[in-house]
Amino acid sequence: LTGFSQFCTINVSADSSAEFPDRVSLMEVRLQAQEDEITLLKSSLADALRRIRLHDQLLPILKQQLICLYVDIQPVFTWKLTLISVLWCSRVRRNSEKLGNPERQRKRLDKKAASSANLLTRQSIKMFIRGRPITMYIPSNIQNYEDLKMEPPSERLELDWVYGYRGRDCRANLYFLPSGEAVYFIACVVVLYHINNRTQRHYRKHTDCVRCLTLHPDKVRVASGQTAGVDKDGKPLQPCVHIWDSTTLVTLQQIGLGTFQRGVASVAFSVADSGAFLCVIDDSNEHMLSVWDCNKGTKHAEVKSTNEAVFAVDFNPSDSTNIITCGKSHVYFWTLNTGQFTKKQGIFGKYKKPKFIQCFVFSLTGDVLTGDSEGNILTWGKSAADVKTLGKGAKETFQIMRQTRAHEGSVFTLCTLQGGGLLSGGGKDRKIIRWSADLAPERECEIPEKYGAVRTIADVDGEELLVGTTRNAVLRGTFSDGFVAIVQGHVDEMWGLATHPSQNIFLTCGHDRQVCLWNTEEHKLDWCITLEEYGLCAGFCPNGSVVSVGLSTGRWMVLDLLTREVVSESTDGNEQLSVMRYSPDGSFLAVGSHDNFIYIYNVTESGRRYTRFGKCNGHSSFITHLDWSKDGKYIMSNSGDYEILYWDIAAGCKLLRNRYESKDREWASYTCVLGFHVMGVWLEGSDGTDINALCRSHSERVVAVADDFCKVHLFQYPCPKPKAPSHKYDGHGSHVTNVCFTHSDSHLLSMGGKDTCILQWRVMGGGSGDSRERLGSVSASSTSTNSPEPATS
Ligand SMILES: *[C@@H]1O[C@H](CO)[C@@H](O)[C@H](O)[C@H]1NC(C)=O
Ligand SMILES: *[C@@H]1O[C@H](CO)[C@@H](O)[C@H](O)[C@H]1NC(C)=O
Ligand SMILES: *[C@@H]1O[C@H](CO)[C@@H](O)[C@H](O)[C@H]1NC(C)=O
Repeated sequence: LTGFSQFCTINVSADSSAEFPDRVSLMEVRLQAQEDEITLLKSSLADALRRIRLHDQLLPILKQQLICLYVDIQPVFTWKLTLISVLWCSRVRRNSEKLGNPERQRKRLDKKAASSANLLTRQSIKMFIRGRPITMYIPSNIQNYEDLKMEPPSERLELDWVYGYRGRDCRANLYFLPSGEAVYFIACVVVLYHINNRTQRHYRKHTDCVRCLTLHPDKVRVASGQTAGVDKDGKPLQPCVHIWDSTTLVTLQQIGLGTFQRGVASVAFSVADSGAFLCVIDDSNEHMLSVWDCNKGTKHAEVKSTNEAVFAVDFNPSDSTNIITCGKSHVYFWTLNTGQFTKKQGIFGKYKKPKFIQCFVFSLTGDVLTGDSEGNILTWGKSAADVKTLGKGAKETFQIMRQTRAHEGSVFTLCTLQGGGLLSGGGKDRKIIRWSADLAPERECEIPEKYGAVRTIADVDGEELLVGTTRNAVLRGTFSDGFVAIVQGHVDEMWGLATHPSQNIFLTCGHDRQVCLWNTEEHKLDWCITLEEYGLCAGFCPNGSVVSVGLSTGRWMVLDLLTREVVSESTDGNEQLSVMRYSPDGSFLAVGSHDNFIYIYNVTESGRRYTRFGKCNGHSSFITHLDWSKDGKYIMSNSGDYEILYWDIAAGCKLLRNRYESKDREWASYTCVLGFHVMGVWLEGSDGTDINALCRSHSERVVAVADDFCKVHLFQYPCPKPKAPSHKYDGHGSHVTNVCFTHSDSHLLSMGGKDTCILQWRVMGGGSGDSRERLGSVSASSTSTNSPEPATS
């Protein structure tokens, strides 16, 4: 069980593992469920033990208070004597001592008796996750919990920037528009990036991951296809293709709802008739090939193409009844006649049949050129029927006219140039080669290794090129000057995210072992280093000169932001680390681990020297989240079995057994997903892993939430009542793993796990001021709030 980390069965679109045997996944689900149960049982046991210990400690106090009870308020409280009521009683007693007027006091208590049940529940609220009660104690300044009204926040988010490009597992997905924009996609967003102005626009009508993209011959309309995905209850949604206007971002057609299965793998517009038709290959087992009327949005024809993987589809530019598909060991030539398809296989004859035909283009002379996994470009032509050997009635065939050796490894992409030339991109040699119209090599260059292989090429002006790479980068450059990255991203699941305490920068880390520093103002990657193990969490020291990164093996390292050097390094346990958090004054570092412990370090020399101070021992499951109190003395922590524990660090990392006493503590940050102040972020029937991360703004006005259903939510802070209203934001195509506000709350960053996408949101509206004015100082710890309710006579 990796709990909070592994619950996105929602969207496996990042891998094409659709063929996974159902039984195995069923078993995995069952195993997971059993493991979950074991974790729960363990934690219940630990909880019970803790309660027994608590009970033992409280027994003497209890006895004392029983006397108090019988003296003071016997008629009211003898009916129920739970621990909670005793605690409450002790408060009443304190208050009554203050009041010192027995007559008035009796009256008050009588009044209270009328609603004694109500009073008792008001001390704490129980929330249930998987049937397990989690008690939240109400801060003393909340007088009327029942009357609290939850509103959505006045703040809103606007998508400001999208970091990343999906080159890892998608093809032919980068085009250059006459507007000067590159168009590509990542997660559910199609990005229009102006390569000179360095501005972005976003097409955001897709409801799940975009998988393919093509440009209309008018160079304005764009078609983009998405995966099916599932809704919140796991019900499959329908995949579709959107045709939209790239100048206005208006959706013109939505095609294929109810027709396509699983997802849309490949799309192309016809050319001969000015783009009247769109052909589509879907992700079903049969890889249905369909042709659509673009203007009406109606289906023209449909056929099962093959059970093998299909990589590309396109119309013959001079004849729209002619369609070609290619994929695993095949290239098919289709003819569409009065709504009926006929298929002809390309015949390899004496040539070795390649494992994959990765791509194809039409040359200006009308030949079909394919690029394959053998590194060859094959030129295909039509041969007259071979009547001599095949007999009368034999039909014409498609055969290889010429084989041109192009790349070591696969030819991943082919791109025709205006003047008849051709570009090819290599999957292994990372080369881009320019060929003359008669396939003589003219120029070549190699893209730097860190960007991976050439995924796709877009011609900007015949000289300048855009290159999408398999390591999710978009490069810009020429054969003469080489290439620089204009878009970069992670290439594997990411969890670690931290914003700088005083500058507009943030740090991310992921399973790709990369640690990257980004600039939110300039929208760019400052630097990226590769570690030996992968990072899962990060935290800046309050001074901002160093950042610590927690790794998958229990190791953690502290990096100097300027030199990128490791200034300190340590290992705690041998399991993955989940939180790195400095105390507000930077004198301590708390390291939360999957080995159930929180390790505490003394920090000196502005974050350069670390000495072990202690260890918080008491959680019965892995640490998921933790926060420091504002005074830097206490920690609040959550674990994989939904525990909320409090620790007195100054007193030697002591577990505070009486959680009630921590109810008024103020927290320097709020990232714990379980807590009174954020109870409202949970949905009914949640399995407790639905919320991966949470972050309170520095203004303490709002809470951002990263959920397992690809959504980012914005709630008012505090939101202590169930089902609090929120604003919901789409864009991610995978479980959102983390959210973080920038130091000034001007932006929020969110990170999709498998979609490898970082979204930067502008925080709009809201105005200034403090949430405390709204809800009567929920987090304040003023003692005056201990006074009894005002007399209402
Ligand atoms: C790009 O910048 C130029 C010059 O500032 C401006 O005229 C143009 O409208 C901008 N284009 C876009 C798409 O932002
Ligand atoms: C952080 O501490 C270092 C080392 O003492 C110091 O050089 C640097 O100026 C400090 N940075 C800030 C932002 O205070
Ligand atoms: C760590 O910090 C605590 C509390 O500030 C202090 O008492 C202790 O001496 C420190 N230990 C070290 C080794 O610096």
